[in-house]
Amino acid sequence: MKINEEQLNHLLNQMTLDEKIAQCIQLAPNFYEGSKEKGDVTGPMAKLGISEELVQNSGSLIGATGAKEMIRIQETYLKNNRLKIPLLFMADIVHGCKTIFPIPLAIGCSWDLELAEKSAEIAALEASVSGIHVTFAPMVDLVRDPRWGRVMESTGEDPYLNSKFAKAFVRGFQGSDLEEDPYRVAACVKHFAGYGAVEGGREYNTVDMSERQLREYYLPAYKAAIDEGAQMLMSSFNTVNGIPATGNRKLLRDLLRDEWGFEGVVISDWGSVMELIPHGVAADEADAAYKAISAGIDIEMMSSAYVKNLSSLVENKMVDEALIDEAVLRILRLKSKLGLFEHPYRGADEELEKRIMMSEYYRHVSHELAVKSIVLLQNKNGILPLQKGKKIAIIGPFAKSHDLLGPWSWLGSKEDAISLYDGLKEKAGAHSLLYAEGCGIDTGTEEQLKDAIKITNKADIILLALGESSEMSGEAASRADIRLPQVQMDLMKLLKRADKPMIAVLFNGRPLDLRDVVEVTNAILEAWFPGTEGGAAIADLLFGDKNPSAKLSMSFPYSVGQIPVYYNHFRTGRPQNALPKVEKYVSKYLDIPNDPLFPFGFGLSYTTFSYGNARLSDQTMNVGTSLTISVDVTNDGEVPGEEIVQLYIQDVVGEVVRPVKELKDFKKVLLYPGETKSISFTITEEKLRYHHSDLQYKSDHGAFIAYIGPNSRDVQALSFQLIQ
Ligand code: GLC
Repeated sequence: MKINEEQLNHLLNQMTLDEKIAQCIQLAPNFYEGSKEKGDVTGPMAKLGISEELVQNSGSLIGATGAKEMIRIQETYLKNNRLKIPLLFMADIVHGCKTIFPIPLAIGCSWDLELAEKSAEIAALEASVSGIHVTFAPMVDLVRDPRWGRVMESTGEDPYLNSKFAKAFVRGFQGSDLEEDPYRVAACVKHFAGYGAVEGGREYNTVDMSERQLREYYLPAYKAAIDEGAQMLMSSFNTVNGIPATGNRKLLRDLLRDEWGFEGVVISDWGSVMELIPHGVAADEADAAYKAISAGIDIEMMSSAYVKNLSSLVENKMVDEALIDEAVLRILRLKSKLGLFEHPYRGADEELEKRIMMSEYYRHVSHELAVKSIVLLQNKNGILPLQKGKKIAIIGPFAKSHDLLGPWSWLGSKEDAISLYDGLKEKAGAHSLLYAEGCGIDTGTEEQLKDAIKITNKADIILLALGESSEMSGEAASRADIRLPQVQMDLMKLLKRADKPMIAVLFNGRPLDLRDVVEVTNAILEAWFPGTEGGAAIADLLFGDKNPSAKLSMSFPYSVGQIPVYYNHFRTGRPQNALPKVEKYVSKYLDIPNDPLFPFGFGLSYTTFSYGNARLSDQTMNVGTSLTISVDVTNDGEVPGEEIVQLYIQDVVGEVVRPVKELKDFKKVLLYPGETKSISFTITEEKLRYHHSDLQYKSDHGAFIAYIGPNSRDVQALSFQLIQ
């Protein structure tokens, strides 16, 4: 039977206040009968003092892993739940469930929205057969500070690109009809809002910026996910302009509900309701519950402020029961949208789970996405691709490592990941490989170094496999020094003495300070955490069976001292290089350049592309018309390649200062050797709008410059006017 709005309201009216409040808590599996973790109350949050009766009325569960466990928990739960309201099962399916895709920052470098959507669709399928209904993804926090460990979870520094990916992920997770398709999951966009702007890149730290800055850069991708139909949203740990997001009415009610019209469920982050106390905006648990429910948190994740305080707050008339009713109705509506009242086990299927997980097709998609996400940063004298038959000394902590999945890789097993060594062996044969670890991630011995030096004597090429362990990025993994660990740099410099061509393949979750790596090596392949197919995808690229096409979606700083460094910055009143011979009194550093080591949009190929005949259809446009900008792109090399052509626009004079350029469109084009294609973009007045000082979102008449090219730096400029 279909539960309609009237029936949902009828159900709500049958519920006691305690039953309503219990719907608003989310607990881990160890509270539930049927869970293999039942009774494990060792974790700090597990000791919430939750009664059995309350568990039997709780609304949702975080983190059950597997169809069998989900079915047993739901079965037991429904036997004891008076009104037979099914549990919602949620989990962090961020870049894959069992088949793991590259980390989202890598996917951001693919600029491939279709593949991103496909990866989310596969993740949803694997998640739903294992009993998950909702994923805590996409994470769309804009990031400009690689000291922050969670940059790996974002698609990067640009609001336009992040918005496009946010929509693609929501489409992939949810499909077109959640109710009819049990093999999709509801998306929960996170972390609202501005979590990527934590001061100093320090995890859980303060976020404070003008509302204009928030709306211009940090909010668009959340809005894009909501406009695409994301069913849930998660509040972030951080403050937003002095008020923690989880207790921020301006953010969660005035903006999210009233201005944006979001009608989905809002969940806190893990314990973030109770964290209003250490934040210093709640005097005690009751105050925390009051502030969170007033702000509009529907579900409290893994803390007990609601269940211990809301009923007395209602009885004391501090909280209107209507507030709780609206929260519970949103939760019940989501359960109805997922069809859980009639199908409480939804897509959970032990047999399917065994049969489809990590199928060949899913691994193929992961492989393809990895190939398109790995960025060729340097290739001096075309040392890459490698020729078969060469002796390769593969050295470094990641040479045989399976730590390629990265943080938030849910059911993914590292053992399933193809190591770089395995990928190369498959491609070139073990006989062409010499192996030595050389050093660990951040420890090393003389013995290891000696072994490494020894094998270089017999090699033609040195292939370094270096990087961060997956624990060095992700949540609670901020780093103040963003270079490779010292032992790895020492290994690299020592091996340089072998005077052999040296290639570095990097495995990391954030942009790193790569100055030394650039200087010492001939080529650099930024592999990020490439997922289950990692080593095989890298081998395809190293031997040229696939041609790199990825472009950075986040700038690589020259050094940590440059942070924050991002391409769409303002000019300042004393821009560097503005006036000839004016060297000193301009906006610059004494000791490093202003420009990043590698800019947003940058990535090399095994071929070269030239851009010619850039042209505009007209010099002026008005609100009702548009312009077309075109450029002829030619593959001047010997191999086919995909090029990501990028369109940026600068508003030369604004009511407020405007960025030197902003990404407004992009297209991927495949070109064969010698082939030329004309690539065009349409410039509409809508693409020229921005938030003015009064927060109105509109365009200004006047001069604009369109920039077109292969990245945010090497562009051709064309001027045009927006007139009345
Ligand atoms: C974590 C993360 C959030 C995740 C949640 C549940 O602390 O901040 O992204 O979805 O808890 O695991």
